[in-house]
Amino acid sequence: MKYGLRAQHAPVASAEECNVTIVEEARDSAPTAIPVEIGKPRGGPRDRRTLRKDSWWQSPTVTVVILSTFVGYSTFAAFQGRNYYVGSGRHRNLLSPFYSPCMTHACVAGSHPLGIWFQFWQFSPALLVLIIPLGLRLTCYYYRKAYYRAFWQSPPACAVADGHARYTGETRFPLVWQNIHRYFFFLAFFLNIILTIDAIEAFRLPGEGVGMTIGTIFLLVNAALLWMYSSSCHSFRHICGGNLNEFSKHRIRYRIWKIVTPLNARHMQIAWTSLVVVGLTDLYVRLVAAGVFTDPKIFVVH
Ligand code: FES
Repeated sequence: MKYGLRAQHAPVASAEECNVTIVEEARDSAPTAIPVEIGKPRGGPRDRRTLRKDSWWQSPTVTVVILSTFVGYSTFAAFQGRNYYVGSGRHRNLLSPFYSPCMTHACVAGSHPLGIWFQFWQFSPALLVLIIPLGLRLTCYYYRKAYYRAFWQSPPACAVADGHARYTGETRFPLVWQNIHRYFFFLAFFLNIILTIDAIEAFRLPGEGVGMTIGTIFLLVNAALLWMYSSSCHSFRHICGGNLNEFSKHRIRYRIWKIVTPLNARHMQIAWTSLVVVGLTDLYVRLVAAGVFTDPKIFVVH
């Protein structure tokens, strides 16, 4: 670490990441150990804002900017309730990932191959669909760390003072609900299958044949990244290799665990990439549907 000051077991966002915080001045031979206890002040610098001399604020600032932009855009897109599907009238079959699967009576013709399941739903179809990805990302172990630091300042970074007087962890309402993450994982798994089918369906160019367009590439890349995001999930890694005492007795689980572990180490990068790409995919479909530009063809087989 290049802080000029050395931090061991630096203060982090969640209780499972460390139990004890030790902040040690570089030239101080007697380190101060500050235990982190629920309901008590969290460890970290007490008499000043930070012990760091680097630009520690950059990471939380970037997090605030990207997450705020995404939340703002996706809220607009979800409430708009139109321009989410490019259908046979334009020889395309592109459905925005924010609106898939479209299963309410408000869904435009051609956008609901699974049928209308939610007749009662009076609002934009996306508000129903987005419950799953929103629940998954909101409770994601990585995003929790990111938004606890960036928005809640708890703490903003290692060796930076906590923005709150007391540390309460995730042991009580509402944060105890973060444990629901594993169930959202299963729901998102189902959603990934739907979005993969959408990407394959996008190769169908009604009235022209089968082919590939820029829109097809967006849907394909989006589906692939969402699979990577799910596969690198901490809950999935636990499903694969958790609660086992001897890997040698569970060869298949061990092999899957070995595959997902390197992905899990890159969960942060995959989380950001897939977030940006899912937003861009919706934006692309939205602009084509609104007639801002046409979806260019790469090849067609008649
Ligand atoms: S930990 Fe991020 S999706 Fe599960």
